[in-house]
Amino acid sequence: MAARPPAAVSPADAAPPERARPARPQHIAVIMDGNGRWARRRGLPRLAGHRAGTEALRRVIEACVEFEVPILTIYAFSTENWKRPPHEVRGLMFLLEEVIERQLDALDQNGVQIRHIGWLDHVPDNLRRAIARAIERTAKNERLVLNVAFNYGSRHEIVRAVRRIVADAVPPEEIDEALIERYLETAGLPDPDLIIRTSGEMRLSNFLLWQAAYAEIYATPTLWPDFGRDELRRALDSYAERERRYGGRLDEAGGDVGEGTAVGVGQSG
Ligand code: FPP
Repeated sequence: MAARPPAAVSPADAAPPERARPARPQHIAVIMDGNGRWARRRGLPRLAGHRAGTEALRRVIEACVEFEVPILTIYAFSTENWKRPPHEVRGLMFLLEEVIERQLDALDQNGVQIRHIGWLDHVPDNLRRAIARAIERTAKNERLVLNVAFNYGSRHEIVRAVRRIVADAVPPEEIDEALIERYLETAGLPDPDLIIRTSGEMRLSNFLLWQAAYAEIYATPTLWPDFGRDELRRALDSYAERERRYGGRLDEAGGDVGEGTAVGVGQSG
């Protein structure tokens, strides 16, 4: 390893959080992947896959309410997604606006609080207004926080945080993990406990890189439009299973923790 300058990090700052995770995750983050492949297998245009993806999203929101998961973050549009063909980009913008128009009443009645992470500078006015309306209308709801990552990218988030820390002239000795977290888009939200990625890919793709430090990962070959309540249940079961092993290791220092430890990636189907 290359020589490094003396660590400016206190041991407490660097140590992983010593908390046993609860059996049910408090915060699930989802990389909704596979819409295009789902459509191609059916001979449909990609946007038909994205539209089917909105139905999967509706099912997963309902299931999070049912399973009492309090926070769901979804990766709806990344800063890299602008590289897609213009009609697909426009289609994704339109779909989000349509989902808000059509589902806002139901989401509100079900106690869903909508939040947004990312930047709305290049987003069409209609969509920007729809997002603002959804956030304002649902701000007091408490059953489920639906955190929509739209035009979000984690590296850009970190760059912006650093720029703002410098602009605020924060003294170096005051910069610690807690301070950095206050400058991230997710300020005020706990880190995700469980990250789900569909369609068989095994990457974070610039999603919540800082916040994912201790997250469990559940990767499934299921394409996002086929994902729903039952598979979310399996993901939760997988998470709970890993936690039981982790707890065993904590309680029985030096004891047998069995094969396949808490770091395994869940697979289903
Ligand atoms: C990745 O599938 C998915 C996206 C880039 C967008 C996710 C959008 C939805 C689930 C629809 C809901 C939309 C909003 C905006 C709320 P992909 O197109 O990369 O699939 P592929 O890897 O099979 O091509």
